[in-house]
Amino acid sequence: MTTDANTTAGRAAPERTALVELDDVSKYYGNIRALEGVSLEVHAGEITCVLGDNGAGKSTLIKIIAGRHQHDAGTLRIEGEETRLGSPREALDRGIATVYQDLAVVPLMPVWRNFFLGSEPRKGVAPFRRLDVEHMRRTTHAELLRMGIDLRDVDQPIGTLSGGERQCVAIARAVHFGAKVLVLDEPTAALGVKQSGVVLKYVAAARDAGLGVVLITHNPHHAYLVGDRFVLLKRGTMSGSHTRDGITLDELTRQMAGGSELDDLRHELERGA
Ligand SMILES: Nc1ncnc2c1ncn2[C@@H]1O[C@H](COP(=O)(O)OP(=O)(O)OP(=O)(O)O)[C@@H](O)[C@H]1O
Ligand SMILES: [Mg+2]
Repeated sequence: MTTDANTTAGRAAPERTALVELDDVSKYYGNIRALEGVSLEVHAGEITCVLGDNGAGKSTLIKIIAGRHQHDAGTLRIEGEETRLGSPREALDRGIATVYQDLAVVPLMPVWRNFFLGSEPRKGVAPFRRLDVEHMRRTTHAELLRMGIDLRDVDQPIGTLSGGERQCVAIARAVHFGAKVLVLDEPTAALGVKQSGVVLKYVAAARDAGLGVVLITHNPHHAYLVGDRFVLLKRGTMSGSHTRDGITLDELTRQMAGGSELDDLRHELERGA
């Protein structure tokens, strides 16, 4: 236990039912063990960070939560109920929205069009129903503003926005369509310091709106800025699981950097010098 001034004890209330819970979950691709014995909890109003090196199994983990893959062993519970997700649509219907790193936007379409992609509201009576464009424009602007993004023109193609802004639009979209759980696969991976900060601010805004957030990242500093829980993956197994008051940033960074492996490397390099 540390007495870090940044602790958020009180936010973590373990007796509540988790929105999503993985218990001892494993996933194999043929003979390849992509995940083994991984457990995590996602709670409303909290951010669970999943950290790990390349190939550690982070994307595999979120694909199970997002309904793209099924687990081979262990238990997935959604709001306490044991579940097996058959498709991404099923996950979405259960309130789990996933933002992938490539974002799946249509770059040449306006921001508002991307905001409503696949869920366009229509007006009028069949067969004269048409897209309610004015409503979509207004809603997109209002929803982005609510997250603190004042976009001058929602008609501009989404491809003209910065990577950070696009991530923010995707987050605002998930909040607007009533997601309970927001899963983000490395939203800051391709971003500079300033844009990463902006994205993390909206990740925190989604948490403050009451969503449970899963944040995948390589970066312990980003994780520690916003995280309530930290799950560390290493070659498919869980090498650590901590609540915020159970670990310091230094220790998280050390574990991410490979801890003792890094010490060994340092010794080797020093000897070689
Ligand atoms: N469809 C697949 N078929 C076979 N093996 C796979 C498949 N997807 C992932 N793997 C393997 O499973 C392991 C975990 O991969 P995963 O993509 O989950 O890692 P990751 O932590 O997301 O890595 P990165 O940081 O590079 O995105 C890797 O060894 C990978 O090669
Ligand atoms: Mg990945």
